[in-house]
Amino acid sequence: ERFDPGRFLDEQGHFKANEAFMPFSTAKRRASVRTCRRAAYPKVTDASPLQVRDKYGPVFTVYLGSQRVVVLWGYEAVKEALVDQAEEFGGREGLALVERTSKGNGLFFSNGETWRQLRRFSLTTLRNFGMGKRSIEERIQEEIQFLLEEFRKTEGTPLDPTFVLRRSVSNVICSVVFGARFSYEDEEFQKLLSLIQANLRRVDTVWVKLYNLFPAVMDHLPGPHNRLFENFEEQKRYVAGVVQKHRETLDPSSPRDYTDAFLIRMQQEENDPDTKFHHENLIVSALDLFFGGTETTSTTLRYGLLILLKYPHVTARIQEEIERVIGQDRTPCMEDRPKMPYTDAVIHEIQRFVDVFPLGAPHSVTRDTQFRGYAIPQGTAVFPILHSVLHDPMHFDDPETFDPRHFLDKEGGFQKNAAFMAFSAGKRVCPGEGLARMELFLFFTSILQSFTLSSPARPQDLDITPEYHGFSKMPRRYQMRLVPR
Ligand code: HEM
Repeated sequence: ERFDPGRFLDEQGHFKANEAFMPFSTAKRRASVRTCRRAAYPKVTDASPLQVRDKYGPVFTVYLGSQRVVVLWGYEAVKEALVDQAEEFGGREGLALVERTSKGNGLFFSNGETWRQLRRFSLTTLRNFGMGKRSIEERIQEEIQFLLEEFRKTEGTPLDPTFVLRRSVSNVICSVVFGARFSYEDEEFQKLLSLIQANLRRVDTVWVKLYNLFPAVMDHLPGPHNRLFENFEEQKRYVAGVVQKHRETLDPSSPRDYTDAFLIRMQQEENDPDTKFHHENLIVSALDLFFGGTETTSTTLRYGLLILLKYPHVTARIQEEIERVIGQDRTPCMEDRPKMPYTDAVIHEIQRFVDVFPLGAPHSVTRDTQFRGYAIPQGTAVFPILHSVLHDPMHFDDPETFDPRHFLDKEGGFQKNAAFMAFSAGKRVCPGEGLARMELFLFFTSILQSFTLSSPARPQDLDITPEYHGFSKMPRRYQMRLVPR
């Protein structure tokens, strides 16, 4: 940190070059970042999976700055890695950004024993919290009634459904993790959601991208990236407040939600110095579930409704199925799904077409690994590109087209497809899959049972191509009318 021209002088006082003098970076490094960006973030709208695979093969390496990343492209490569070599490919690569915010805590960005224990605990708890008194299905059905009421209030005037869908979906995970739902107008609730949104937008800024490439330098620089860290701390403080209220009213014989179950486990293991059930892990895991349970599901719903506006004949067929199986006298429930193959196929197709998490989450290899003749050293980052699986032309005819027949057999029955990996696969497969699939079915069917949807724009003018934000894919903003049926 000292100013000293002597660094560039030799013993005789002549100028001396220093290899570490790189204020302009190096031509080689700059070139590699450029070429790699193209490969790692293909513009999926104009490069078909076949084009990328033909050019680079199903397994290729890119450099993000100086970091080497192995990219897996297409169903076969992703499945062989995540499913057939699940143990090796089950690690999580931490971006510098997350290392500073989560610090190895929580479920999403942890590894080793911490991840194993938190994952097992979270899966069991999510399964049980259909917990105790009310099942998860009932919690979702209850939340949907609030949403439908909100829709009724519009009296058929056009509405941008973004905020109300996000609040409603978020309430479901709030109910499971924190034991309570919030009014859609609740200021604290809106604040928490807006903090998350603000950080999602920041992930896209040059400052944050630079932070991920050069954390040691950026840690010491002022700039908008610091707001992201302050923002995350604010989210943690909010959850810490909720946890404190739970502590004060905890009844160990009757856990109300995920937070209670975690606090009970903390008490049981309080004398174990190596316990993974401590305050920080509770806060970050709760935020992981809250975030994971809000954005992905609500974006899928919002995108799905836009697609249904675009294709009214698909909507009409779902409504026929609703009339036949459910009718108008009761609310939809999960037992209806096996009897509604067309609706099930449409929801799968929405998830496939929308592919909200196109790059997937970054993995890493947990040990030195042999894969398709390549030697991948322990700790190497691996990106299983889920977009390339969900749009793999070997498994979906005409994958760029929205077509529910991708999940229907010739008799009109629902047909599974192994390449449906919207929730990823293997050791890290999304632990919220069951909850999300339940939400998607109940939200879509309840909305279509109660309302006729229409758009102020003509269906042929609706643009269903995506916008990209950080790691996620979003629909363009739109308006819709909901008229009670
Ligand atoms: C992980 C997709 C809903 C919580 C993931 C991953 C994907 C994904 C692709 C990365 C898996 C990997 O590392 O390979 C989705 C989609 C959803 C959804 C498409 C809805 C449509 C949810 C819900 C929750 C949730 C409702 C909360 C209950 C998580 C968590 C992880 C995760 C905590 C990290 C798991 C781990 O690292 O072990 N999700 N998810 N997700 N998801 Fe979801």
